[in-house]
Amino acid sequence: MVYRRDVSLHDGSHMPRFGMGTWHLAEGRHSQSQEIAALRAGLDAGISLIDTAEMYADGRAESLVGRAIAGYDRSRLFLVSKVYPHNAGRAHLRHSLEASLKRLGTDYLDMYLLHWRGSVPLAETIDCMEQAKADDLIHNWGVSNFDTDDMHELFAIPGGDNCAVNQDLYHLGSRGVEFDLLPWMDAHHVPLMAYCPLAQAGRLQDRLLSSPAVREIADAHDVQPLQILLAFILHRDDTIAIPCSGNARHVLDNLRACDVELSADEFAMLDDAFPAPSSKEPLDMQ
Ligand SMILES: NC(=O)c1ccc[n+]([C@@H]2O[C@H](COP(=O)([O-])OP(=O)(O)OC[C@H]3O[C@@H](n4cnc5c(N)ncnc54)[C@H](OP(=O)(O)O)[C@@H]3O)[C@@H](O)[C@H]2O)c1
Repeated sequence: MVYRRDVSLHDGSHMPRFGMGTWHLAEGRHSQSQEIAALRAGLDAGISLIDTAEMYADGRAESLVGRAIAGYDRSRLFLVSKVYPHNAGRAHLRHSLEASLKRLGTDYLDMYLLHWRGSVPLAETIDCMEQAKADDLIHNWGVSNFDTDDMHELFAIPGGDNCAVNQDLYHLGSRGVEFDLLPWMDAHHVPLMAYCPLAQAGRLQDRLLSSPAVREIADAHDVQPLQILLAFILHRDDTIAIPCSGNARHVLDNLRACDVELSADEFAMLDDAFPAPSSKEPLDMQ
């Protein structure tokens, strides 16, 4: 890997920079045995981070992950799951967390995220997350789909600065977070987990894969355009990419992005074709 393998978190622990997403797995797009084989191909190739959520396929994605990781050394895995906003308070968070742990077949999560903001006060969610940490059910907690003003509000609450990561949509064709959110996160030592890093294989923006700049750089590195999208994410320090695939071949292809070191000229070509924002943009979400 030509990039740093890990990001360091605020408590001095580390988190891998490359992982596997699981949204839309266990929904019949591929057979479950294919999807388990895809996750295991990634694990066997050294990808230890898996991102999932209680929401995905109504818990079936977590169960699928549980089946995929059975037999692997838990201490070498980094498991991330997410709680629904309506479950992120005293009444339900512990129950949601325990159900996720059961489906995953583990007794702790490395990272537990608030999936997006809901009506439960942030202070209450922070208390529940900190209690789960004290009880050794999670090692760290973070948020998702938070913009700059949400992060300001979170960090103004006691304990809010224990937020370890923010997971937001980020890909070459959607760079809005670069305007003021990523500078703020860098200054406060909150790494970004970039979701939809492949722009859902280009479906979110078809001009990405037909871009002459992307194609030329892909040819130069003997990879596919999608891997250039991942290399763009990895080029930025303190950013984690979590592409999703239920196809073992795709998982291994994507991993090749870790060996693609973009030169300054190549980065400038991408920047030119897909410029960084020059003003605040609404947070992009899926
Ligand atoms: N926090 C949030 O609100 C949020 C929202 C969205 C996503 N996420 C997380 O981020 C992860 C990634 O986002 P995403 O799944 O929406 O999108 P993505 O990773 O950008 O794209 C996934 C799509 O790309 C295809 N694909 C992957 N590798 C490929 C390859 N080498 N060649 C061709 N096609 C390929 C997959 O199909 P195949 O299976 O056929 O390969 C799938 O259709 C999710 O799985 C989830 O864990 C979080």
